[in-house]
Amino acid sequence: MAGGVAAVILAAGKSTRMVTDLPKVLHEVCGRPMLAYVLEACRRIGVEKLLVVVGYRKDDVMAAFPDQNDIIWVEQKEQRGTGHAVMICEEELRKGGWQDVLVLCGDGPLVSDKVLATVVQKHRAEHASATLATAVLPDPTGYGRIVRDAYGNLQGIVEQGDCTPEQKNIKEINPSYYCFRTDHLLEALHSVRPNNVKNEYYLTDALAIMIARGLKAVAITAVAPEDVISVNSRQQLSLVSKLMQERIQENLMSHGVTVVDPSNTWIDARAQIGQDTVIHPFTYIHGRVQIGKRCSIGPFAYLREGTVLADDVVVGVFTEVKNTVLGHGTRLRHLSYVGDTKAGRNVNIGAGSIVANFDGKRIQNTEIGDNAYIGNGAILVAPLQVPPGAHVGPGSVVSRQDTQANHRGQTRRKAPRKK
Ligand code: UD1
Ligand code: CA
Repeated sequence: MAGGVAAVILAAGKSTRMVTDLPKVLHEVCGRPMLAYVLEACRRIGVEKLLVVVGYRKDDVMAAFPDQNDIIWVEQKEQRGTGHAVMICEEELRKGGWQDVLVLCGDGPLVSDKVLATVVQKHRAEHASATLATAVLPDPTGYGRIVRDAYGNLQGIVEQGDCTPEQKNIKEINPSYYCFRTDHLLEALHSVRPNNVKNEYYLTDALAIMIARGLKAVAITAVAPEDVISVNSRQQLSLVSKLMQERIQENLMSHGVTVVDPSNTWIDARAQIGQDTVIHPFTYIHGRVQIGKRCSIGPFAYLREGTVLADDVVVGVFTEVKNTVLGHGTRLRHLSYVGDTKAGRNVNIGAGSIVANFDGKRIQNTEIGDNAYIGNGAILVAPLQVPPGAHVGPGSVVSRQDTQANHRGQTRRKAPRKK
């Protein structure tokens, strides 16, 4: 849709306001670094190349997005402002020859593809030099304020620190979602000077320069506040995470997943959940978890990275599952831990059963065959293969020796657990 458009995404800052050693854009929102959401919103509308400006701990940022061929990393050695950050992309932008360029900040993970698509469409339809979205926030603190003349014409953007007392009362803000004619932007940036309280080269000043030069600047108003909140502090990080969590659950519900108590449920952005599955309260799903159809999860279930549940699986109360595949109809109803395990179809894992997957040095795997029955309070010591249809008595401690003995045809009772 936005063919022929590149995006510049600013992600070089250290973020003093977050009080952190981690680059701000790597802080996670619902399980993913916030930069990932911005990249994906651009991709969804067909942006061809993503020029990501990195600086502070750039290697860590780059390492978080390996093998993504549509990214061009541009290093900004010294963070001298958002205008400077775009300026250093000049060479790449000219080389690419894109007529228009989106400019976004890596700290705005709530950016929606719909808003971006509207910005690009409007920009082209109006043959504008600059098009930006604006939003009205009840509390505009920290954002650049949109300044208009008596006729409502856009004049420019004034940063919080540079606002007069009257300008501080303006509730219309700049979310930093812009589309520019590339050559007009670059020309204007050459004229930007760091005449402000922060002594930085502001991208927002380039916009005012373009307007003063008589170039057409268009503002798209009334973008929903939920789409524009960015992260400058831990408080905003928690707010943005909450809004993102609502979006994730909203999307699942619209695909037929029941979330019984949304505010007491946490689901990772990467999780996939099938239709007619019910997520009961106090469930925490973290990582690339896949859940089939008609499953019942929780209450109080903790599903971790690498969990794959087929259809009709039950993972009940106070259970933890990690890096584990549970086959069709398998039940794990109460008080269990299962890790690094592949269980077949219709397996029953009784209350209080544990897979002891870590011997203090190594994590090892366990397999449980179809229709096996694991009695209450059993401990399966990995590495282990429980044959299909096996019946493990309550309280058993089962290790490899036990099953090998069985394979040799010796009948051997499972050792009772030592008191
Ligand atoms: C910026 C806008 C402000 C807007 C707000 C929306 C400017 C001058 N101000 O302010 O109008 O309301 O975003 O969120 O543009 N960055 C770099 N290199 C730099 C400076 C910043 O890459 O030299 C990156 C940061 O890492 C960050 C992004 O640019 O991801 C925005 O910088 P930040 O300092 O957060 O700008 P704001 O003060 O929020
Ligand atoms: Ca910001």
